[in-house]
Amino acid sequence: MPCIFQDKNIVLGVCGGIAAYKIPELLRILVKQGASVKVIMTRNAEAFIGKVTFEALSGNPVCVSLFEEENQGAIRHIAWAQESDAVIIAPATANMIGKLANGIADDALSTFMLAVTSHRIICPAMNTNMYENRAVQRNMDILESDGLIILEPDAGELACGVTGAGRLPSPEYIADRLGKQLCKKDLFHQKILVSAGPTMEPIDPVRFISNHSSGKMGYAIAKAAEHRGADVTLVSGPTALRAPIGVHMIHVKTADEMAEAMFENMETSDIVIKVAAVADYKPNVQAEHKIKKKDEKLILQLDKNMDILKALGKRKTHQILVGFAAETQDLDTHAMEKLQEKNLDMIVGNIVGNSESGFGTDTNKVTLYFPDGKKKQFPTMVKDDVANILLDHIAEKVTVDAEN
Ligand code: CTP
Repeated sequence: MPCIFQDKNIVLGVCGGIAAYKIPELLRILVKQGASVKVIMTRNAEAFIGKVTFEALSGNPVCVSLFEEENQGAIRHIAWAQESDAVIIAPATANMIGKLANGIADDALSTFMLAVTSHRIICPAMNTNMYENRAVQRNMDILESDGLIILEPDAGELACGVTGAGRLPSPEYIADRLGKQLCKKDLFHQKILVSAGPTMEPIDPVRFISNHSSGKMGYAIAKAAEHRGADVTLVSGPTALRAPIGVHMIHVKTADEMAEAMFENMETSDIVIKVAAVADYKPNVQAEHKIKKKDEKLILQLDKNMDILKALGKRKTHQILVGFAAETQDLDTHAMEKLQEKNLDMIVGNIVGNSESGFGTDTNKVTLYFPDGKKKQFPTMVKDDVANILLDHIAEKVTVDAEN
Protein backbone atom coordinates (compact mmCIF):
# COMPACT_ATOMS: atom_id res chain seq x y z
CA MET A 1 0.00 0.00 0.00
CA PRO A 2 2.10 2.97 -1.16
CA CYS A 3 1.15 6.04 0.96
CA ILE A 4 2.06 8.53 -1.70
CA PHE A 5 0.36 10.65 -4.26
CA GLN A 6 0.15 8.11 -7.07
CA ASP A 7 -3.10 8.67 -9.00
CA LYS A 8 -4.43 11.09 -6.39
CA ASN A 9 -6.39 14.20 -7.43
CA ILE A 10 -5.14 17.19 -5.51
CA VAL A 11 -6.55 20.70 -5.79
CA LEU A 12 -4.13 23.45 -4.88
CA GLY A 13 -5.72 26.76 -3.88
CA VAL A 14 -3.38 29.75 -4.09
CA CYS A 15 -4.15 33.11 -2.47
CA GLY A 16 -2.47 36.49 -2.88
CA GLY A 17 0.45 36.44 -0.47
CA ILE A 18 4.19 36.84 -0.97
CA ALA A 19 4.67 33.12 -0.11
CA ALA A 20 2.92 32.26 -3.39
CA TYR A 21 6.41 32.09 -4.90
CA LYS A 22 6.96 28.78 -3.03
CA ILE A 23 3.90 27.09 -4.56
CA PRO A 24 5.30 26.10 -7.98
CA GLU A 25 7.86 24.01 -6.06
CA LEU A 26 5.09 22.38 -4.01
CA LEU A 27 3.21 21.64 -7.22
CA ARG A 28 6.33 20.15 -8.78
CA ILE A 29 6.87 17.84 -5.77
CA LEU A 30 3.27 16.59 -5.89
CA VAL A 31 3.33 15.97 -9.66
CA LYS A 32 6.71 14.21 -9.38
CA GLN A 33 5.19 11.83 -6.84
CA GLY A 34 2.37 10.89 -9.19
CA ALA A 35 -0.44 13.31 -8.26
CA SER A 36 -2.74 14.98 -10.74
CA VAL A 37 -2.89 18.59 -9.55
CA LYS A 38 -5.41 21.28 -10.46
CA VAL A 39 -4.85 24.87 -9.39
CA ILE A 40 -7.47 27.42 -8.38
CA MET A 41 -6.00 30.85 -7.71
CA THR A 42 -7.51 34.10 -6.53
CA ARG A 43 -7.27 37.30 -8.57
CA ASN A 44 -4.86 38.68 -5.94
CA ALA A 45 -2.60 35.61 -6.31
CA GLU A 46 -2.14 36.61 -9.95
CA ALA A 47 -0.39 39.75 -8.70
CA PHE A 48 2.34 37.49 -7.27
CA ILE A 49 2.59 34.64 -9.75
CA GLY A 50 1.37 33.97 -13.27
CA LYS A 51 -1.34 31.49 -14.16
CA VAL A 52 0.87 30.17 -16.99
CA THR A 53 3.45 28.88 -14.48
CA PHE A 54 0.86 26.66 -12.81
CA GLU A 55 -0.59 25.56 -16.14
CA ALA A 56 2.82 24.52 -17.39
CA LEU A 57 3.79 22.66 -14.20
CA SER A 58 0.45 20.92 -13.65
CA GLY A 59 -0.43 20.23 -17.29
CA ASN A 60 -4.01 21.29 -16.41
CA PRO A 61 -6.04 24.45 -16.95
CA VAL A 62 -5.92 26.88 -14.03
CA CYS A 63 -9.13 28.32 -12.62
CA VAL A 64 -9.19 31.98 -11.55
CA SER A 65 -12.81 32.89 -12.14
CA LEU A 66 -16.00 30.88 -12.26
CA PHE A 67 -17.04 32.64 -15.43
CA GLU A 68 -13.92 32.69 -17.53
CA GLU A 69 -14.48 30.13 -20.29
CA GLU A 70 -17.94 30.03 -21.77
CA ASN A 71 -19.77 28.27 -18.97
CA GLN A 72 -16.97 25.78 -18.28
CA GLY A 73 -15.79 27.56 -15.14
CA ALA A 74 -19.25 27.69 -13.61
CA ILE A 75 -19.52 23.92 -13.31
CA ARG A 76 -15.83 23.13 -13.11
CA HIS A 77 -15.67 23.83 -9.37
CA ILE A 78 -18.30 21.15 -8.73
CA ALA A 79 -16.49 18.55 -10.87
CA TRP A 80 -13.08 19.31 -9.34
CA ALA A 81 -14.58 19.21 -5.83
CA GLN A 82 -16.19 15.84 -6.46
CA GLU A 83 -13.09 14.16 -7.85
CA SER A 84 -10.55 15.63 -5.39
CA ASP A 85 -8.82 13.39 -2.85
CA ALA A 86 -7.49 16.43 -0.99
CA VAL A 87 -7.46 20.20 -1.22
CA ILE A 88 -4.69 22.37 0.10
CA ILE A 89 -4.77 26.16 0.29
CA ALA A 90 -1.29 27.66 0.38
CA PRO A 91 -0.68 30.41 1.16
CA ALA A 92 -4.02 31.00 2.87
CA THR A 93 -4.52 34.72 3.55
CA ALA A 94 -6.42 36.18 6.51
CA ASN A 95 -9.13 37.20 4.07
CA MET A 96 -9.60 33.68 2.65
CA ILE A 97 -9.55 32.15 6.17
CA GLY A 98 -12.25 34.62 7.20
CA LYS A 99 -14.38 33.80 4.16
CA LEU A 100 -14.09 30.03 4.65
CA ALA A 101 -14.92 30.29 8.36
CA ASN A 102 -18.10 32.16 7.54
CA GLY A 103 -19.27 30.34 4.45
CA ILE A 104 -18.73 33.30 2.14
CA ALA A 105 -18.39 32.32 -1.52
CA ASP A 106 -17.52 35.35 -3.60
CA ASP A 107 -14.72 34.02 -5.82
CA ALA A 108 -13.75 30.75 -7.51
CA LEU A 109 -11.69 29.35 -4.60
CA SER A 110 -14.10 30.16 -1.77
CA THR A 111 -17.05 28.90 -3.84
CA PHE A 112 -15.17 25.69 -4.67
CA MET A 113 -14.41 25.15 -0.96
CA LEU A 114 -18.10 25.02 -0.12
CA ALA A 115 -18.52 22.08 -2.49
CA VAL A 116 -15.52 20.03 -1.23
CA THR A 117 -15.96 17.05 1.07
CA SER A 118 -12.45 15.52 0.90
CA HIS A 119 -9.46 16.39 3.13
CA ARG A 120 -9.01 20.17 3.40
CA ILE A 121 -5.71 21.59 4.55
CA ILE A 122 -5.10 25.28 5.18
CA CYS A 123 -1.60 26.80 5.30
CA PRO A 124 -1.86 30.30 6.75
CA ALA A 125 0.96 32.70 5.81
CA MET A 126 0.90 36.37 6.70
CA ASN A 127 2.43 39.11 8.84
CA THR A 128 2.81 38.08 12.53
CA ASN A 129 0.39 40.70 13.87
CA MET A 130 -2.22 39.66 11.34
CA TYR A 131 -1.69 35.99 12.20
CA GLU A 132 -2.02 36.68 15.93
CA ASN A 133 -5.04 38.94 15.45
CA ARG A 134 -8.00 37.70 17.50
CA ALA A 135 -10.33 37.62 14.49
CA VAL A 136 -7.90 35.47 12.44
CA GLN A 137 -7.31 33.11 15.38
CA ARG A 138 -11.05 32.86 15.95
CA ASN A 139 -11.64 32.06 12.28
CA MET A 140 -8.97 29.36 12.35
CA ASP A 141 -10.59 27.82 15.45
CA ILE A 142 -13.87 27.69 13.50
CA LEU A 143 -12.16 26.00 10.53
CA GLU A 144 -10.58 23.42 12.85
CA SER A 145 -13.87 22.67 14.52
CA ASP A 146 -15.38 22.30 11.03
CA GLY A 147 -12.85 19.50 10.37
CA LEU A 148 -10.27 21.39 8.31
CA ILE A 149 -6.58 20.86 9.10
CA ILE A 150 -4.53 23.97 9.85
CA LEU A 151 -0.80 23.67 9.22
CA GLU A 152 0.91 26.01 11.68
CA PRO A 153 3.13 28.56 9.96
CA ASP A 154 6.84 28.67 10.78
CA ALA A 155 8.36 31.41 12.88
CA GLY A 156 11.20 33.42 11.43
CA GLU A 157 11.99 36.54 9.48
CA LEU A 158 9.05 37.46 7.27
CA ALA A 159 9.06 39.32 3.95
CA CYS A 160 7.70 42.41 5.72
CA GLY A 161 10.85 42.53 7.90
CA VAL A 162 9.06 41.43 11.10
CA THR A 163 10.33 38.34 12.95
CA GLY A 164 7.65 36.02 14.30
CA ALA A 165 5.07 33.40 13.33
CA GLY A 166 3.54 33.62 9.86
CA ARG A 167 6.03 32.14 7.40
CA LEU A 168 4.79 29.45 5.04
CA PRO A 169 6.54 26.11 5.83
CA SER A 170 8.77 24.58 3.15
CA PRO A 171 7.11 22.87 0.15
CA GLU A 172 8.65 19.55 1.28
CA TYR A 173 7.04 19.90 4.70
CA ILE A 174 3.63 20.81 3.25
CA ALA A 175 3.78 17.88 0.80
CA ASP A 176 4.72 15.49 3.62
CA ARG A 177 1.81 16.61 5.83
CA LEU A 178 -0.57 16.37 2.87
CA GLY A 179 0.74 12.85 2.20
CA LYS A 180 -0.02 11.94 5.81
CA GLN A 181 -3.65 12.98 5.37
CA LEU A 182 -4.01 10.59 2.44
CA CYS A 183 -2.72 7.54 4.35
CA LYS A 184 -4.92 5.11 6.19
CA LYS A 185 -4.36 5.30 9.95
CA ASP A 186 -4.09 1.59 10.70
CA LEU A 187 -1.22 2.15 13.15
CA PHE A 188 -3.01 4.89 15.08
CA HIS A 189 -1.43 5.38 18.53
CA GLN A 190 0.87 2.36 18.13
CA LYS A 191 4.22 3.14 19.71
CA ILE A 192 6.91 2.12 17.26
CA LEU A 193 10.62 2.03 17.97
CA VAL A 194 12.87 1.89 14.89
CA SER A 195 16.66 1.75 14.68
CA ALA A 196 18.45 2.82 11.51
CA GLY A 197 21.82 3.57 9.98
CA PRO A 198 25.28 2.28 10.80
CA THR A 199 27.09 2.43 14.12
CA MET A 200 30.49 4.04 14.36
CA GLU A 201 33.10 2.44 16.62
CA PRO A 202 36.00 4.80 17.40
CA ILE A 203 39.63 3.69 16.98
CA ASP A 204 41.11 7.02 18.03
CA PRO A 205 39.74 10.61 18.06
CA VAL A 206 39.80 10.81 14.23
CA ARG A 207 39.18 7.24 12.98
CA PHE A 208 36.42 4.68 13.30
CA ILE A 209 35.08 1.30 12.13
CA SER A 210 31.70 1.44 10.42
CA ASN A 211 29.81 0.11 7.38
CA HIS A 212 28.03 1.36 4.25
CA SER A 213 24.51 1.61 5.71
CA SER A 214 22.86 4.87 4.59
CA GLY A 215 19.89 4.61 6.96
CA LYS A 216 17.41 5.04 4.07
CA MET A 217 15.38 1.89 4.81
CA GLY A 218 14.94 2.64 8.52
CA TYR A 219 14.09 6.29 7.86
CA ALA A 220 11.52 5.23 5.23
CA ILE A 221 9.89 2.92 7.79
CA ALA A 222 9.82 5.65 10.46
CA LYS A 223 8.26 8.13 8.01
CA ALA A 224 5.64 5.68 6.72
CA ALA A 225 4.70 4.60 10.26
CA GLU A 226 4.24 8.24 11.32
CA HIS A 227 2.04 8.81 8.26
CA ARG A 228 -0.07 5.82 9.29
CA GLY A 229 -0.73 7.31 12.70
CA ALA A 230 1.98 5.73 14.88
CA ASP A 231 4.01 7.49 17.59
CA VAL A 232 7.48 6.83 16.26
CA THR A 233 10.88 6.97 17.96
CA LEU A 234 13.86 6.59 15.65
CA VAL A 235 17.21 5.61 17.13
CA SER A 236 19.66 6.58 14.43
CA GLY A 237 23.34 6.02 13.91
CA PRO A 238 25.23 8.70 11.95
CA THR A 239 23.57 9.29 8.56
CA ALA A 240 23.30 12.17 6.07
CA LEU A 241 19.48 12.00 6.12
CA ARG A 242 17.01 14.61 7.31
CA ALA A 243 14.89 13.56 10.33
CA PRO A 244 11.44 12.39 9.22
CA ILE A 245 8.76 14.93 10.19
CA GLY A 246 6.85 14.19 13.38
CA VAL A 247 9.27 11.47 14.52
CA HIS A 248 11.08 11.57 17.89
CA MET A 249 14.80 11.28 17.11
CA ILE A 250 17.53 9.80 19.30
CA HIS A 251 20.97 10.18 17.73
CA VAL A 252 23.64 7.66 18.70
CA LYS A 253 27.09 6.76 17.43
CA THR A 254 28.25 3.44 18.87
CA ALA A 255 26.55 0.07 19.24
CA ASP A 256 26.67 0.51 23.02
CA GLU A 257 24.82 3.82 22.76
CA MET A 258 22.29 2.24 20.37
CA ALA A 259 21.73 -0.66 22.78
CA GLU A 260 21.12 1.74 25.68
CA ALA A 261 18.58 3.80 23.67
CA MET A 262 16.76 0.67 22.45
CA PHE A 263 16.56 -0.90 25.93
CA GLU A 264 15.38 2.38 27.44
CA ASN A 265 12.50 2.65 24.95
CA MET A 266 11.56 -0.98 24.41
CA GLU A 267 9.27 -1.39 27.42
CA THR A 268 6.91 1.40 26.34
CA SER A 269 6.86 0.31 22.69
CA ASP A 270 4.29 -1.90 20.95
CA ILE A 271 6.44 -2.60 17.91
CA VAL A 272 10.24 -2.68 17.59
CA ILE A 273 11.88 -2.72 14.15
CA LYS A 274 15.63 -3.17 14.12
CA VAL A 275 16.93 -2.03 10.75
CA ALA A 276 20.31 -0.66 11.86
CA ALA A 277 23.50 -2.21 10.55
CA VAL A 278 25.29 -2.58 13.87
CA ALA A 279 29.06 -2.95 13.72
CA ASP A 280 29.67 -6.46 15.03
CA TYR A 281 33.06 -5.57 16.50
CA LYS A 282 34.65 -2.56 18.19
CA PRO A 283 38.29 -1.76 19.03
CA ASN A 284 38.99 -3.05 22.53
CA VAL A 285 40.67 0.22 23.42
CA GLN A 286 40.05 3.66 22.02
CA ALA A 287 43.35 5.53 21.75
CA GLU A 288 43.24 8.84 23.60
CA HIS A 289 45.30 10.57 20.91
CA LYS A 290 45.59 10.14 17.14
CA ILE A 291 47.57 6.98 16.38
CA LYS A 292 50.79 7.96 14.57
CA LYS A 293 51.91 5.93 11.54
CA LYS A 294 55.29 4.99 12.94
CA ASP A 295 54.97 1.20 12.47
CA GLU A 296 54.74 -0.72 9.15
CA LYS A 297 51.82 -2.76 10.44
CA LEU A 298 49.06 -1.82 12.85
CA ILE A 299 47.14 -4.58 14.56
CA LEU A 300 43.80 -3.69 16.08
CA GLN A 301 42.27 -5.92 18.75
CA LEU A 302 38.50 -6.05 18.34
CA ASP A 303 35.87 -7.05 20.88
CA LYS A 304 32.50 -8.40 19.83
CA ASN A 305 29.63 -5.93 20.26
CA MET A 306 26.46 -7.05 21.97
CA ASP A 307 23.82 -8.46 19.62
CA ILE A 308 21.20 -5.82 20.45
CA LEU A 309 18.34 -7.54 18.62
CA LYS A 310 19.03 -10.87 20.32
CA ALA A 311 18.98 -9.08 23.69
CA LEU A 312 15.69 -7.39 22.74
CA GLY A 313 14.30 -10.82 21.77
CA LYS A 314 15.13 -12.12 25.26
CA ARG A 315 13.40 -9.17 26.93
CA LYS A 316 10.36 -9.27 24.62
CA THR A 317 6.97 -9.33 26.38
CA HIS A 318 4.01 -7.89 24.44
CA GLN A 319 6.03 -6.32 21.62
CA ILE A 320 6.06 -7.29 17.95
CA LEU A 321 9.78 -7.63 17.18
CA VAL A 322 11.06 -7.31 13.62
CA GLY A 323 14.64 -7.66 12.39
CA PHE A 324 16.51 -7.38 9.12
CA ALA A 325 18.96 -9.86 7.64
CA ALA A 326 21.57 -8.45 5.31
CA GLU A 327 23.19 -11.30 3.40
CA THR A 328 25.39 -11.78 0.38
CA GLN A 329 24.38 -15.46 -0.08
CA ASP A 330 22.03 -18.22 1.22
CA LEU A 331 19.36 -15.69 2.21
CA ASP A 332 16.65 -18.23 3.15
CA THR A 333 18.87 -20.23 5.50
CA HIS A 334 20.52 -17.29 7.24
CA ALA A 335 17.30 -15.28 7.58
CA MET A 336 15.39 -18.20 9.15
CA GLU A 337 18.29 -18.90 11.53
CA LYS A 338 18.35 -15.27 12.67
CA LEU A 339 14.55 -15.18 13.07
CA GLN A 340 14.67 -18.15 15.46
CA GLU A 341 17.87 -17.26 17.27
CA LYS A 342 16.69 -13.69 17.99
CA ASN A 343 13.07 -14.62 18.88
CA LEU A 344 11.53 -12.45 16.15
CA ASP A 345 7.98 -12.15 14.82
CA MET A 346 9.24 -11.37 11.34
CA ILE A 347 12.55 -10.88 9.59
CA VAL A 348 13.12 -8.92 6.41
CA GLY A 349 15.79 -10.56 4.30
CA ASN A 350 17.69 -8.80 1.59
CA ILE A 351 20.72 -9.51 -0.49
CA VAL A 352 23.14 -6.64 -0.08
CA GLY A 353 26.00 -5.53 -2.26
CA ASN A 354 24.26 -5.11 -5.62
CA SER A 355 23.02 -1.96 -7.35
CA GLU A 356 19.28 -2.33 -6.69
CA SER A 357 19.17 -3.75 -3.19
CA GLY A 358 20.68 -3.01 0.19
CA PHE A 359 23.10 -0.38 1.40
CA GLY A 360 22.85 3.14 -0.03
CA THR A 361 20.34 2.33 -2.77
CA ASP A 362 16.88 3.90 -3.11
CA THR A 363 15.35 0.51 -3.91
CA ASN A 364 15.29 -2.82 -2.13
CA LYS A 365 14.33 -6.38 -3.01
CA VAL A 366 13.12 -8.15 0.10
CA THR A 367 11.69 -11.42 1.31
CA LEU A 368 9.66 -11.55 4.52
CA TYR A 369 10.09 -14.62 6.74
CA PHE A 370 7.71 -15.66 9.53
CA PRO A 371 8.04 -17.98 12.57
CA ASP A 372 5.72 -20.61 11.01
CA GLY A 373 8.28 -21.10 8.23
CA LYS A 374 6.31 -19.20 5.59
CA LYS A 375 7.97 -16.59 3.41
CA LYS A 376 6.82 -13.88 0.99
CA GLN A 377 9.04 -12.65 -1.79
CA PHE A 378 8.69 -9.19 -3.36
CA PRO A 379 10.12 -7.62 -6.51
CA THR A 380 12.52 -4.68 -6.45
CA MET A 381 10.69 -1.63 -5.09
CA VAL A 382 11.51 1.85 -3.83
CA LYS A 383 12.24 1.80 -0.11
CA ASP A 384 9.08 3.84 0.70
CA ASP A 385 6.99 1.02 -0.81
CA VAL A 386 9.00 -1.69 0.98
CA ALA A 387 8.38 0.22 4.22
CA ASN A 388 4.62 0.19 3.62
CA ILE A 389 4.51 -3.50 2.74
CA LEU A 390 6.36 -4.30 5.92
CA LEU A 391 3.97 -2.10 7.92
CA ASP A 392 0.96 -3.77 6.21
CA HIS A 393 2.11 -7.10 7.66
CA ILE A 394 2.74 -5.58 11.08
CA ALA A 395 -0.68 -3.82 11.09
CA GLU A 396 -2.30 -7.15 10.20
CA LYS A 397 -0.57 -8.84 13.14
CA VAL A 398 -1.60 -5.98 15.46
CA THR A 399 -5.24 -6.58 14.44
CA VAL A 400 -5.00 -10.37 14.84
CA ASP A 401 -3.27 -10.03 18.26
CA ALA A 402 -5.95 -7.55 19.40
CA GLU A 403 -8.71 -9.98 18.41
CA ASN A 404 -7.14 -12.88 20.35
N1 CTP B 1 21.85 -6.73 15.01
C1 CTP B 1 21.91 -6.17 16.27
N2 CTP B 1 23.10 -6.12 16.95
C2 CTP B 1 24.23 -6.60 16.39
C3 CTP B 1 24.19 -7.17 15.09
C4 CTP B 1 22.97 -7.20 14.43
O1 CTP B 1 20.89 -5.73 16.78
N3 CTP B 1 25.36 -6.52 17.06
C5 CTP B 1 20.56 -6.81 14.32
C6 CTP B 1 20.43 -5.96 13.07
O2 CTP B 1 19.92 -4.67 13.37
C7 CTP B 1 19.47 -6.76 12.22
C8 CTP B 1 19.72 -8.20 12.63
O3 CTP B 1 20.37 -8.13 13.90
O4 CTP B 1 18.13 -6.45 12.49
C9 CTP B 1 20.59 -8.99 11.68
O5 CTP B 1 21.77 -8.27 11.41
P1 CTP B 1 22.83 -8.83 10.35
O6 CTP B 1 23.93 -7.82 10.24
O7 CTP B 1 22.13 -9.27 9.12
O8 CTP B 1 23.36 -10.17 11.03
P2 CTP B 1 24.17 -10.49 12.31
O9 CTP B 1 23.23 -10.92 13.38
O10 CTP B 1 25.11 -9.36 12.66
O11 CTP B 1 24.98 -11.78 11.86
P3 CTP B 1 26.10 -11.91 10.71
O12 CTP B 1 26.87 -10.60 10.71
O13 CTP B 1 26.92 -13.07 11.16
O14 CTP B 1 25.37 -12.16 9.42
